[in-house]
Amino acid sequence: MKRSLFMSLVIAALAFALAMPLYAAGKAAPANDITFKTPAGMKATKPLVKFPHKKHAALKCADCHHKKAGANEYAKCDTKGCHDNAAVKTGKDSFYAAFHSNTPHSCVGCHKAKKATNPNAPTACNKCHA
Ligand code: HEC
Ligand code: HEC
Ligand code: HEC
Repeated sequence: MKRSLFMSLVIAALAFALAMPLYAAGKAAPANDITFKTPAGMKATKPLVKFPHKKHAALKCADCHHKKAGANEYAKCDTKGCHDNAAVKTGKDSFYAAFHSNTPHSCVGCHKAKKATNPNAPTACNKCHA
């Protein structure tokens, strides 16, 4: 009993030590397109959006990723307690609003704001839901 507890502690310490450099160096941005999924229980009514992360490399990570107290900065948008409310179209917890609201963090909000300088940033429904 005692020995197995000791072993679990050793393993936990090792895992922590191995993971540390990853945190210290910061997470790398994904190179491939990310295909979104809708939150559990929400049926998609439109074709799922493919997000070309790489095409956004000129922006700051914090233009999109933002930390909620205690959560992983690069957690998925629909992480529990974040933008995971599939029932409403407005408000901070709304899944829909996270991508379409007029705030600069949302896909459509930022694309509209940058339309003049970045005409490639899509704002038409079928350009994202393709
Ligand atoms: C800049 C990209 C972008 C544009 C433009 C856009 N959307 Fe979305 N939309 C998203 C993302 C990202 C999601 C969440 C992931 C998913 O559902 O694929 C989403 C989700 C949705 C959802 C919830 C999921 C579903 O399939 O039912 C609806 C409804 C929706 N969008 C409707 C629209 C409509 C209507 C328009 C045009 C007025 C529009 N969107 C324009 C990116 C976009
Ligand atoms: C234009 C907005 C935007 C910018 C800028 C951005 N990201 Fe992302 N990133 C996203 C979105 C959207 C996702 C997908 C979230 C989801 O799946 O719910 C994502 C996903 C990720 C993931 C998780 C991949 C996975 O599959 O779990 C990591 C890690 C990440 N980004 C790191 C970064 C880093 C590091 C930077 C800065 C160098 C950065 N991102 C800049 C929007 C952005
Ligand atoms: C903070 C600003 C910002 C946010 C947030 C943002 N984008 Fe963009 N997006 C841009 C800019 C700027 C471009 C134009 C890049 C270029 O022209 O090279 C762009 C371009 C694109 C393109 C076109 C790429 C191409 O083929 O040229 C797609 C698709 C796209 N964004 C999807 C999304 C989706 C989906 C989201 C939300 C998950 C999102 N973006 C969030 C700023 C943003």
